[in-house]
Amino acid sequence: MLLLALLVSITCLVLYVRRVKRILSRHSKPLTYFSDVMLHGKTVLITGGNSGIGKETALDLAGRGSRVILACRNLTKAKETAEEIKNITRNSNIITMELDLNDLESVKKFAQRINQNEKRLDILINNAGIGVRGSDCTKQNYDEFFGINYLGHFLLTYLLLDLLKKSAPSRIINISSYAHIFVKKYPDFYLGQHGAKIKYPNLSGYATSKLCNILHSKILSKKLKASKVISNSLHPGMVKTGILNNDPFQGKGLLRILLYRILFKYMGRSTKDGAKTVIYAAIDESLNDISGQYFENNSIANNELSKLAKDEKLAEKLWDISLQMCAEYLEN
Ligand SMILES: NC(=O)c1ccc[n+]([C@@H]2O[C@H](COP(=O)([O-])OP(=O)(O)OC[C@H]3O[C@@H](n4cnc5c(N)ncnc54)[C@H](OP(=O)(O)O)[C@@H]3O)[C@@H](O)[C@H]2O)c1
Repeated sequence: MLLLALLVSITCLVLYVRRVKRILSRHSKPLTYFSDVMLHGKTVLITGGNSGIGKETALDLAGRGSRVILACRNLTKAKETAEEIKNITRNSNIITMELDLNDLESVKKFAQRINQNEKRLDILINNAGIGVRGSDCTKQNYDEFFGINYLGHFLLTYLLLDLLKKSAPSRIINISSYAHIFVKKYPDFYLGQHGAKIKYPNLSGYATSKLCNILHSKILSKKLKASKVISNSLHPGMVKTGILNNDPFQGKGLLRILLYRILFKYMGRSTKDGAKTVIYAAIDESLNDISGQYFENNSIANNELSKLAKDEKLAEKLWDISLQMCAEYLEN
């Protein structure tokens, strides 16, 4: 009996390890993508375009001749990146603008400047994000992951919709993550106790924010059906970037973060390869009429989505609540 139990346990362990290995190799294998699409006359906006996947994407799209707006919280870093991109691509049309997704007021001001000064917006890439908590909450008291990775981008996209529609055919791309699958419970939209520091305390954590990115893309594609604006989300893979480099707030989740850092460092794909699926989603002509989809490794990967990420009612609910959260900031 004992021997049988041992055999079953070993078999389960072997199957589990094989499954994890399969998933890891799917997310870290090298990628190739080639396209001769050029973007002269087009404008691309990339949040967090000063480092990692965003920077690599900006470099590629600038090389195709587009005007590239790097929307960043750190303007010094952004300007250095812009100079680097200009030197490599010989494209001088690289703009830097301040955007702090931690603060909805900053998002609103940024969107106002874009709407006033830009004639068009062809590709909006909602890329910026944090992987390690730097504090408890955002300026408007939302969980930091939820606020920066999702809500700031929700407001930004909402405020830029008219410009995107005017420039159609245009594209909205949300950089999500396979990590969305770690949300197992239906999200709880409890506002929290009156006067509590964090609003909607159960909408917290990295995985929840990335689930929201996917739901955001899905609901947008539904709302934009009558227009020529498409909206998709994607997982870039496991990519060697600085996303886990922040010091964790009060040492929260330190061990988990250290483990991920080691995994990403030794198994992650390069930023160049990490940007491939983003570039594919931004320019591939086969996607002209494809909206509401989730991509991995340069192809549609809806079968990798969790049940929650496919839940249309949840996407509607999130949209309505996000509008309430941003109510003060919705007027352009
Ligand atoms: N790396 C991966 O394996 C992986 C896997 C799945 C999904 N992703 C997603 O890919 C996206 C890009 O991440 P990455 O890996 O390239 O990491 P990264 O190199 O750390 O880039 C993140 C960017 O977001 C910016 N950012 C952070 N907080 C911001 C704020 N409050 N306002 C404006 N910008 C802000 C950062 O600016 P600073 O330079 O000023 O910090 C940086 O430019 C993220 O959405 C991430 O969730 C990454």
